[in-house]
Amino acid sequence: MRRASILFSVFAFCTAGLIAQNADLAQYQTWMKTGVAAQRAMMAGVTAKDAGAIKENSAKGAEAFDSIAKYWGTKQKPDAVKFAEDARDASKAVAEATDEAGQQAALGKLQGTCRGCHTVYRNGSEFKQ
Ligand code: HEC
Repeated sequence: MRRASILFSVFAFCTAGLIAQNADLAQYQTWMKTGVAAQRAMMAGVTAKDAGAIKENSAKGAEAFDSIAKYWGTKQKPDAVKFAEDARDASKAVAEATDEAGQQAALGKLQGTCRGCHTVYRNGSEFKQ
C-alpha cells in the first residue's frame, strides 16, 4: 500500500515536470516564431524601403528576443541570455539605423546570433537536453 502511494507520487511528480516543460516549449516556440517572422519582415522592409514595416517589426523582434532572454535568465544560461540580448539589440538597431548600410549591418548582427544559440540549445523544434 505504502509502496503504491510512493510510486504514485513519483509518477505524479514526473508528469507535472513534463507538462511544465511542454508549456515552456510551446511558449518559447511562439517567441521564436515571432522573432523569425519579424526578422524576415525587416529584411523585406529594408529592400522595399518601407519605414513603417521596419519600425513595426523591429519592435516585434526586440520584444520576442527580450522574452527569450528572460526565459534563459530563469534557466541560468548566461550564454543563451547573451545571444538573445544581442538579437534584441540588433532588432532595435535596424529601426534606429539612418541609412540602408546601417540597416543591413544590424540585420547581419541579428543573423549572427541564430547559429550560436542553436548549436548549443536547439534540437529541431525542441530544446537540446
Ligand atoms: C537565445 C537562443 C536562440 C537564438 C538567439 C535564436 N534561436 Fe531559434 N531556436 C532556439 C531554440 C532553443 C529553438 C528550439 C525550440 C523552438 O522550436 O522554438 C529554436 C528554434 C528555431 C526555429 C524553429 C521554430 C519552430 O517552429 O519550432 C527557427 C525557424 C529558428 N529557431 C530560427 C531562428 C533565427 C532565424 C534566429 C536568428 C534571427 C534564431 N532562431 C535565434 C534558440 C534560439
